[in-house]
Amino acid sequence: MTNLEKSLHKKGRRPNSVAVIGALFGDEGKGRITDELTNYFLKNFGEVITYRDNGGSNAGHTVSVGDKSIGLHQVGSGILQKGSTVILGKGMVIHPIDLIEELNEVKRVFELDSIPAKLMIDEMACLNLDTHRAFEHALKNRGNVGEGLQASTGRGIGPSYADVLYRFPVRLRDLVSRTWKKKLSEHYNLYYEWGKGMGFDISKIAVNRFNSEPVLLGSKDNFLRNLKKVRSELQQYVHPMFEYIKEHWESDIPFVFEKAQAVGLDYRWGVYPDVTCSDCTVYGINYSTEGAILADDISSRIGVIKSTYTSSVGRREIPTLMKVKLANKIRDDANEYGTTTGRPRDIVYMDLPMLKYFCNVGGIEEIAYTHMDIVYEEPVKVCTEYMKNGKKSYYRPDQVHLIGIEPKYKEFKPWESSKFKGGDIPKEAQTFMDYISDYTDTTPVVITYGPKRHDTLVV
Ligand code: IMP
Repeated sequence: MTNLEKSLHKKGRRPNSVAVIGALFGDEGKGRITDELTNYFLKNFGEVITYRDNGGSNAGHTVSVGDKSIGLHQVGSGILQKGSTVILGKGMVIHPIDLIEELNEVKRVFELDSIPAKLMIDEMACLNLDTHRAFEHALKNRGNVGEGLQASTGRGIGPSYADVLYRFPVRLRDLVSRTWKKKLSEHYNLYYEWGKGMGFDISKIAVNRFNSEPVLLGSKDNFLRNLKKVRSELQQYVHPMFEYIKEHWESDIPFVFEKAQAVGLDYRWGVYPDVTCSDCTVYGINYSTEGAILADDISSRIGVIKSTYTSSVGRREIPTLMKVKLANKIRDDANEYGTTTGRPRDIVYMDLPMLKYFCNVGGIEEIAYTHMDIVYEEPVKVCTEYMKNGKKSYYRPDQVHLIGIEPKYKEFKPWESSKFKGGDIPKEAQTFMDYISDYTDTTPVVITYGPKRHDTLVV
């Protein structure tokens, strides 16, 4: 039995349930691991539920079938599979226009008459609207106040989540109700007034949209008209979800939880200001399912890492700076440029004090080691200890604290990555993984060693 199979049947846990979590700063290759698991369950059980509990259109996931591929944001690849039920949970923020456009694009690109999966959206999920995007844009351009937003994806994610804390969220349920115009007019007015207070006319701000050039938010009438176009189409997908989730959790159907972003981007655990606004840990599932599923009952909780280095986009300064020459080489070999923006990502050494912290707060028990082929003739350097003012120190989610850290490193012998192709794990790679697993108290379950889907080993 592989470690992966064992992890799906832990004692006292709900069998055949697995969560895939970004263990560092996003873009670790979660989508591919999720796809593998979804396919595995479909093959063995004929059905699967994939559940997303956080984020929204800020996430990105490329799905390929044959020579066709598409970048999806709000729905995962399960959407292309017959037998899968894709649930967008309460903890997400949903952009209704982008979502419908995304579904249409799936049909267009793959030449389908209808979406193969069953799609269900929790009526309690909050809306993410053009108002949020325009307001975020205004905030970003407001001198020092908006500094923390410089790396934002421009999808209005923060303002959508903030609505909940301000205690006037607009939910999917509001959009499909008969009184939708009143609620959404009030929402528009509020954001308009806020913008005005800051000296912006948000109706004149162009906002990002799925697969199109930015469009003007426009007047309230325009805003409502745009929503009206997708409202009736959305209706079929919007449901109360608590009972459905509870009943299915008590059945035998496999569950794959597809987390978005990563623990290092969680607004509580990540390095400010480059953080998002949702719960990126496995525990976000508790809130999203209203407790119908407890994260602690999920059998396998896989954190995904890039194994030999870490990449991140934004202004955060991670202590484990890498030699520029090596960083440039890795960036080119592993194509470390933002999928949407093309921005070069920062490349730093793997930082184990930080990874261990993220595993602990993120609820990670297993690890998928991706990019195991990014290894050269020189030793693989990994940070194992933080020192500050001559004393042992720790990762804390505080940029000021991290700036003074002096990392201590351990070096590992490089491995011959072509050996993975024959199904073997090179001895040096095994030593490296054993060290990381011991350090973080996790179990390795998957290795990927190349960009192709079949460059994968289940361990
Ligand atoms: P927001 O989620 O658009 O508010 O962006 C906040 C921060 O999270 C920014 O630094 C983004 O670059 C980062 N971010 C958001 N989503 C992702 C993702 O899916 N992968 C990597 N970084 C992300």
